[in-house]
Amino acid sequence: MTNTRRLLGLAAAGLFAWLAPGAASAQGNLTVYCSVQEEWCRPMMQAFERATGIRVAMTRRSSGETLTQIRAESSNPRGDVWWGGTGDPHMQAAQENLTVEYRSPMLDQVHDWARRQAEQTGFRTIGIYAGALGYSYNTNELTRRRLAAPRCWSDLTAPGFRGEVQVADPNTSGTAYTMLATLVQLMGEEPAFQYLRNLHRNVNQYTRSGAAPARAVATGETLVGITFLHDAVTQKLTGAPVEIVAPCEGTGYEIGSMSIIRGARNMEQARRFYDWALTAEAQGLAVQANAFQLPSNRNAPIPPQAPRFENIRLIDYDFARWGSAEERTRLLTRWEREVRAGSR
Ligand code: G6P
Repeated sequence: MTNTRRLLGLAAAGLFAWLAPGAASAQGNLTVYCSVQEEWCRPMMQAFERATGIRVAMTRRSSGETLTQIRAESSNPRGDVWWGGTGDPHMQAAQENLTVEYRSPMLDQVHDWARRQAEQTGFRTIGIYAGALGYSYNTNELTRRRLAAPRCWSDLTAPGFRGEVQVADPNTSGTAYTMLATLVQLMGEEPAFQYLRNLHRNVNQYTRSGAAPARAVATGETLVGITFLHDAVTQKLTGAPVEIVAPCEGTGYEIGSMSIIRGARNMEQARRFYDWALTAEAQGLAVQANAFQLPSNRNAPIPPQAPRFENIRLIDYDFARWGSAEERTRLLTRWEREVRAGSR
């Protein structure tokens, strides 16, 4: 296109916008903070725009980072809906009065675990998906280093894995906080912190985002990556040399959640998004975006690739306790002081 034609095109687009103000946004606007993978955030927002005519502005950030942002903006909220990300920070947001109660007409369609999330927070958040925690490793790198295949949490602290393990930072990432709270519930707090200090010696990097280590495993940048199992499935399906492990001692899981932000400027649109995101149809879009969580709508199809809870040794994760502001803040402070600050 020549410059002149491009300019003419822009002028025409501007004129159109002037003649028909907000044609695309006749139904209004919505700002969504998205805490799943960007690859799922984008098509989800586009599908909602197509279904409703509401124009969506979306920002992707990890779960802990989004909580920090919503708190920082609380006197002048910019976001309307927080969609996705682990449940613990959503529960903390509810407790801190940063999100509002909403009883969706879709409540009857969700599994008990998703509804419980709502009931425990006075309907300020709700489960939209679930997924178990674990790790993956690169099989080529394992062979190259002549290491035995790891099966348990305890295997990851062995000297052979020094500098070979990647996991996110629990301050920014809900995935990594899920690991912290899982280990405390699984082992007891003192042994869990001893384990984390030992693991620290083997960690090559604490990433910002929870799923990043699964990608690093696929490319061979790290040997082991601790993530949700479904994030490792996404990588394995690309054909990468990845093996996925549900740790032998047992493991925790997330209830990925959704909340409406207190002071939302577009409350009506926020509720429409909330109701729509709980439909089987909207949740069915996940698989097209290579997201393999278990959906919360009872009628949504379960992707055949999704790691099934029946096959994993799961702890009885106490979301109310570990999603509380006191415990979450306390564990993070302790992790910062005793684990991150330690030498390797
Ligand atoms: C990935 C997973 C989600 C999870 C999210 C948490 O996107 O697929 O199931 O909720 O990570 O992200 P974070 O970066 O906060 O760990």
